[in-house]
Amino acid sequence: MRMIISTIVMNEEIQYEDLYKSNMSFFKEFRVAFDKILESGWFILGSNVSDFETEFSRYCNSNYCVGVASGLDALYISLKNYNFPIGSEVIVPSNTYIATILSIIHSGLHPILVEPDIRTYNIDPNKIIEKISSKTRAILVVHLYGKCCEMDKILDISKEFNLKVIEDCAQAHGAEYNGRKAGTFGDFGAFSFYPTKNLGALGDAGAIITNSEEFYERVKSYRNYGNKVKYENHLVGVNSRLDEMQAAFLRIKLKYLNDIIIHKRKLADIYYSNLSDYFIKPYIDNRYYDVYHIFNIRTNHRNKLKSYLLENGIHTEIHYPIPPNKQLAMKGIIDDQATPIAKEIHDTTLSLPISYSHTEEQISRVCEVMNKYASYE
Ligand SMILES: Cc1ncc(COP(=O)(O)O)c(C=O)c1O
Repeated sequence: MRMIISTIVMNEEIQYEDLYKSNMSFFKEFRVAFDKILESGWFILGSNVSDFETEFSRYCNSNYCVGVASGLDALYISLKNYNFPIGSEVIVPSNTYIATILSIIHSGLHPILVEPDIRTYNIDPNKIIEKISSKTRAILVVHLYGKCCEMDKILDISKEFNLKVIEDCAQAHGAEYNGRKAGTFGDFGAFSFYPTKNLGALGDAGAIITNSEEFYERVKSYRNYGNKVKYENHLVGVNSRLDEMQAAFLRIKLKYLNDIIIHKRKLADIYYSNLSDYFIKPYIDNRYYDVYHIFNIRTNHRNKLKSYLLENGIHTEIHYPIPPNKQLAMKGIIDDQATPIAKEIHDTTLSLPISYSHTEEQISRVCEVMNKYASYE
């Protein structure tokens, strides 16, 4: 097989993500916001945080939002809200990012893995009931890669078995299922604004959305040492505050989030229209409005394809190379739970470039190089 397709391909490296380029169009507004905060002398829990909370809850069609320090904290604080007995079980997909699992463990709870649907990569609702025990208290769903889970089926199960539902929306800002936004199906939607996310800060940041006033008051207090009034603690809380600077940057980017999503969906269309059927592409049907935080394909010999693309100047990622239950840190915690479908996904998945900084020409180039590979195989 000839490995280098053409010199044109080699002329331009296509990065998986370039955060400088993705943020470049916001620099002017960022600088104005930065100067304002610098001159205001107010850095923690000020008007940028409260305005962002209002604007983000409005964007998600949710009643309340609480800004926190990260996506992991958003999940952890949501779980802590319930004060479940230590050792209670939480259902979670077996192929999620490790942070979802860690939030359960840090809350003193036990993750019970449920395999994903091999088509959608999201938790398979048909496999949940068999994992429910007398200790199960909640289902923590993950809208992986920017596609929502089948929330109607999951909510039916939660009602039947009296379980709480929390949504990990770290990869799904603006994603919809049957016209309803991610984060508004369960008690809580937990978001990460890690810089590479569709709504990415310039550092760590996260948020929790909820429709419950009671839960809102509790998590808002919990993120700030359990205060309601300064120096009066009624909860054993934590310090997990979204800071003014990140909130200001997020307010700017939130205005463009729909543009970012539309751009990524256009790039996804190029993949769908041009990529050879040799590659398994993300599942679509009209229930889903996908936001493509990640556009992954699956193929056997994934590692060979990844190397081949790199030789042709195209950078890719693997989300994720090791399933949670195979991580060393999970020894004795969840390594006894068999997850063949998660393994299959982790062994065959490859994430292709799809960011706000990529052009349609670049994505067409990726398709061209991949199709050449397919024709050689
Ligand atoms: C699915 C999922 N959950 C949770 C997180 C944790 O978010 P953070 O890195 O902001 O703590 C991430 C971040 O990558 C994620 O992808």
